[in-house]
Amino acid sequence: MRRPSGQEDLRPPGFAYRDGVLHCEGQDLRSLTKAYGTPLYVYSAKMLRERTRVLNAAFAGLPHTLCYAVKANSNLSLLRLFARWDCGFDVVSGGELERVLRAAPRAATKVVFSGVGKTRDEIELGLRSGILLFNVESPAELEVLFECASRQRKTARVAVRVNPDVDAKTHPYISTGLRKHKFGIAIEEAAALYARVARQKYVQTAGVSVHIGSQITSVAPFGQAMQRVAALVKHLQASGHDIRYVDAGGGLGITYQGKQPEFEAQAQRYAQAILRPLRNLGIHLLLEPGRVLVGPGGVLLTSVIYNKTNRGKRFVIVDAGMNDLLRPSLYGAEHEIVPVLRDRSRKRETVDVVGPVCESGDFLARDRELAAVSERDLLAVLDAGAYGTVLASNYNTRPRPAEVLVDGARVKVIRRREKFEDMVGAES
Ligand code: LLP
Repeated sequence: MRRPSGQEDLRPPGFAYRDGVLHCEGQDLRSLTKAYGTPLYVYSAKMLRERTRVLNAAFAGLPHTLCYAVKANSNLSLLRLFARWDCGFDVVSGGELERVLRAAPRAATKVVFSGVGKTRDEIELGLRSGILLFNVESPAELEVLFECASRQRKTARVAVRVNPDVDAKTHPYISTGLRKHKFGIAIEEAAALYARVARQKYVQTAGVSVHIGSQITSVAPFGQAMQRVAALVKHLQASGHDIRYVDAGGGLGITYQGKQPEFEAQAQRYAQAILRPLRNLGIHLLLEPGRVLVGPGGVLLTSVIYNKTNRGKRFVIVDAGMNDLLRPSLYGAEHEIVPVLRDRSRKRETVDVVGPVCESGDFLARDRELAAVSERDLLAVLDAGAYGTVLASNYNTRPRPAEVLVDGARVKVIRRREKFEDMVGAES
């Protein structure tokens, strides 16, 4: 695709420099901060649409549904977009299910419900809403599902979430597919559970599900997990179970710094790893992508408050902190940080970019080389669309940021900045 002159893509097709100024689609990010303040999350609808299209195209060889993982970014306006693009949803709480019901009630029939600790209330809400699939994670949960379904006389479709004992080679906090993790049921023990389901009146066996972790950058672990799942599906089908769905979970990673790989090629490699073992099983594939759809589609804009040097160590103190974007503090994540207004004549310095929160763990980047900044300069923290705002808190009684959705010429505030009253309103 030809780029207009003066344009330099950063996260195509959503974020690019135009004549040295960072834009989201056609919008100058400086004007957005003037209108809505900082810290500010800005999302590109075009980016989300394009990534959804590319991922769907990669799986075109098999009937499938992308069940967007609501936990990655649960803003109602984004859920509406995904529903409009025919996505289903992966939810892990009653609250997330209620968000889907609010944003896109008709998508309830395309919801899969995962999670190790579903309560009776949450299961009942799922049953009443007629969701597609309960991904059951323990024998105890299955008993509660039996009980709730027969009380409501509603049929629940069940997939057992299996733990395939595959190493996803990702951060230990977001790896889920090893035997030491709390997730799923040991794959060797799953068949017995299906046999138990088959004896129940209001519960049907419908699928097998798996999710081995998040921010997985090699496709090999997906292939390995899928081979184990495919073997189980064959065994179950041969034993007379009606297994129509395989839910392959989410987890495909993104590149947080530097040169971006072609998403199309990455999506195709991922699809091949998953599709190959599933050939000829006659199943409908469900996927639960979160980060890969929304991560690169959002940035967090922040203003420099002060520069500071402590015994020779340089700090850039900005107005976004760990309460606004927790990933660097919690996982040591290294989000790329770029100036909104680029000035190549500025000298480069090695700094810690830190927030105003009273913790030494409050940083957005450590020992990072950046072009020198002055007070009130704007910085953009890239790839903040997933697990950014959803992990935000009011720590230090800081209001959570506003969120803005850009869609071509349209700019919409999809969450207003919190006010003091929002933070204390539920207290007495
Ligand atoms: N399905 C299930 C059952 C999951 O547990 C998750 C993520 C997903 C799908 C979506 O995974 P994704 O495609 O986004 O990788 N807060 C962490 C990530 C936690 C992921 C938890 N589960 C982070 O900021 O890196």
